[in-house]
Amino acid sequence: MENDSHRDLRRWLKLYADLGVRELPLMERTPPSDDVQGDESAKPSPSAALAHLREHEIGECRRCPLHEGRRKIVFGVGNARARLFFVGEGPGADEDRQGEPFVGRAGQLLDRIIAAMGLEREEVYIANVVKCRPPGNRAPLPDESARCLPFLERQIEIVAPEVIVTLGRVALEGLLGESVGGITRVRGTFRQYRGIPLMPTFHPAYLLRSPEKKRPVWEDMQAVMSRLGLTSSRSDRS
Ligand code: URA
Ligand code: URA
Repeated sequence: MENDSHRDLRRWLKLYADLGVRELPLMERTPPSDDVQGDESAKPSPSAALAHLREHEIGECRRCPLHEGRRKIVFGVGNARARLFFVGEGPGADEDRQGEPFVGRAGQLLDRIIAAMGLEREEVYIANVVKCRPPGNRAPLPDESARCLPFLERQIEIVAPEVIVTLGRVALEGLLGESVGGITRVRGTFRQYRGIPLMPTFHPAYLLRSPEKKRPVWEDMQAVMSRLGLTSSRSDRS
């Protein structure tokens, strides 16, 4: 049965035919371009940019041998506009299973550190230097870190945090792409990553083995809080 919209369409087509139009362009509308100059509103949101990075740039990555043993790519988690960005080393067994960074024992300690700072896990952003689990929980090899680093760099660029905290020596050296010497010597002093203040501290897995190192980590986090203009109600917690 012909309804109103059919009739409308028939009239339109007759009009086109009367005008001498012999072909109709059947095209999707062009989506708004991301790179329109000077139009901020045309830029994708940070969360859309992160989703694009995950789905279209990383995809089902096979760029390094770590893909052979992984279950899930562990991209990163948190607020796409976080002021504070934590960088870890690489997924462990729990993270590999769940596809989310820092969900195992070290992650639970990281959550307590974040809570002690007066923040919530959902407020910050957390990602690793390598996105796939190294076999047997070994540290990522320099080649693996270097291959994966552009994705972390892009995550940092998109989130544009005010402060970065690297967890452990491997995370610091992975992000900087250079060796820095012992983490015990370099932790606690801000350095810069592309103009962003970066605080190196110990890895929470190390704190599980050496609980006496929680105090220096807390001092480092207090320096971070002060950079972010956050004050601590529990100023000397260990
Ligand atoms: N250790 C890390 O460095 N990253 C994780 O995601 C979990 C443990
Ligand atoms: N060694 C590391 O690589 N990280 C730490 O946090 C402590 C010792």
